[in-house]
Amino acid sequence: MRVLGIETSCDETGVAIYDTERGLLADALYSQVAMHAEYGGVVPELASRDHTRRLLPLIQQVLEEAGMQRSELDAIAYTAGPGLVGALMVGASTAHGMARALGIPVLGVHHMEGHLLAPMLEESPPAFPFVALLVSGGHTQLVEVHGLGLYRLLGESVDDAAGEAFDKTAKMLGLSYPGGPQVARLAETGNPGRFRFPRPMTDRPGLDFSFSGLKTHTLTTLRQLEQAGELDDQARADVARAFEEAVVDTLTIKCRRALDDTGLKRLVMAGGVSANQRLRERLATEVAKRNAQVFYPRGRFCTDNGAMIALAGALRLQAGERDETGQMKAVPRWP
Ligand code: KG4
Ligand code: ZN
Repeated sequence: MRVLGIETSCDETGVAIYDTERGLLADALYSQVAMHAEYGGVVPELASRDHTRRLLPLIQQVLEEAGMQRSELDAIAYTAGPGLVGALMVGASTAHGMARALGIPVLGVHHMEGHLLAPMLEESPPAFPFVALLVSGGHTQLVEVHGLGLYRLLGESVDDAAGEAFDKTAKMLGLSYPGGPQVARLAETGNPGRFRFPRPMTDRPGLDFSFSGLKTHTLTTLRQLEQAGELDDQARADVARAFEEAVVDTLTIKCRRALDDTGLKRLVMAGGVSANQRLRERLATEVAKRNAQVFYPRGRFCTDNGAMIALAGALRLQAGERDETGQMKAVPRWP
């Protein structure tokens, strides 16, 4: 079965074709990052308009890359939520229109399920069951995964997502959007010993997270440095380093706890923040100590992409699922 996947939930137009026999046949991505950068964040209306411009040419591109006619597609999967409603509607209406014209099934996929399954696009995919750490711009969750659709939420952020905290910290440090990779780059030249930021909610049981206090802590530290006339480039790098250490440490502590609580030996990480090198290194060390394994997607499949949606859709379609109602779905908030 060859499935076209469409992702338009935020600021990346992602399209891919996944073959249940041969794996990923083609994948293309158009990032709107440069367009939104001057506004310091995603402007929803501009995002929708740009998806409209980019989507059809990208679909044409992946068909050509895969050497296929659109009549050879067996199904279409699209991100139905959560995300920006106007942006979601571009993908949803295109998917439904094409599927209706071609007379093939269509399926709305949960964006976070796409992230969660993304490590399965890699050469040695994780087998079920596993613990998944989902860390993106909108979510921070630990999930116990027993199979497709068999998910138990172990914990999540009670306020900001980890990626959101990275983005806000970047703004405070005068870095441009999206901030995660930039904070990480600045942290490389930071001195790890200069500041120690709190590890929120690690001193009590449970697997929930909180990142908004850390953001306030960063702001207070920067203000104090400024007042003391000490806010130079090195100080900024030291703050970035302390912030990154605190986030990485917090996520690592909770992952360790999740593995211990569930007794599972496989940890999957996905979502934009899973591209963070320091987080990958720390988690690799921790799981090795437990004779466990860690899995993550390659860099380009950590952040939003069409391949993860094509894959999630293909697995669900293979399991017999269909959108029988014929109604397109665009669900901005979808637990
Ligand atoms: O999964 P994603 O592309 O979009 C959402 O579904 O939200 O995640 C984007 C988030 C942004 O907050 C971005 O700053 C963060 O992932 N991010 C990173 C890194 N790369 C992306 N955060 C920390 N370190 C990175 N290397
Ligand atoms: Zn995402």
